[in-house]
Amino acid sequence: MTPYYDAAVAIRKALPQRDAKIALVLGSGLGDVADAVEDSASVSFADIPGFPKPSVDGHHGKLVHGTLSGRKIFVLQGRAHAYEGHPLSDVVLPVRAMEALGVETLILTNAAGSLREDMAPGSLMMLTDHINWSGANPLTGPNDATLGPRFFDMTTAYDTALHAALMRSAKAENVVLHEGVYLWALGPNFETPAEIRAFRILGADAVGMSTVPEVLAARHAGLKIAAISGITNFGAGMVANEILDHAHTLAQGATIAESMTKLLLHFLKDPVHD
Ligand code: HPA
Repeated sequence: MTPYYDAAVAIRKALPQRDAKIALVLGSGLGDVADAVEDSASVSFADIPGFPKPSVDGHHGKLVHGTLSGRKIFVLQGRAHAYEGHPLSDVVLPVRAMEALGVETLILTNAAGSLREDMAPGSLMMLTDHINWSGANPLTGPNDATLGPRFFDMTTAYDTALHAALMRSAKAENVVLHEGVYLWALGPNFETPAEIRAFRILGADAVGMSTVPEVLAARHAGLKIAAISGITNFGAGMVANEILDHAHTLAQGATIAESMTKLLLHFLKDPVHD
């Protein structure tokens, strides 16, 4: 059997009778959003065969199941990144395991740098599209036709109905939710000021080191996708004397987690998920 199928079987065993049509991935500094999950049961990534173990601070490495706003949900508390040395097939294995367990909607969150003066740290950005700047792709190699086709369309990868629902929720909860294009930079270094200038010209609104691999695997497998960035800083060189480090990312994460939780709790109530 395939590694993601083995992982799904292990999750079934560890969390018996725990189904969900929705999975949520919590990025850097956002792990505490999982505290809102009711009737929860969890399993550590370390106990799921094939799941990559996150090595970065702010990533718990736990799969939580429970109820959020009355909806059953799997919450992936933390993720692995390509820059940690994980092969991309491992980075996306949790997404494929979720699909094997019957998940139909994937909600991804991340921490990102802003490329726009009007999108300040502390705010949220809903992804309308992305640019894969890394040159890497989890779908290279033989195609697993049981998951999806060799060539697949990315025109509406970010689901428009989920997009509209997120906008409704942001309005209702008074949360500032920007819309924009996310550029995936491999990392682990923050960008150079020249790269940030180039990315702005390319049409990107935010830059980060994750999410795009999961979007590619999820789109390949036909999942509905919504993704939200928590903006932790302006891109390198945009603000005089700004020093970029991971502590900065995590500090902003606490503020962002609050508005992200409000937004998600309202979003999950929306009939779009019925
Ligand atoms: N660049 C890349 N990834 C990030 C950033 C950034 O400025 N901020 C948070 N994640």
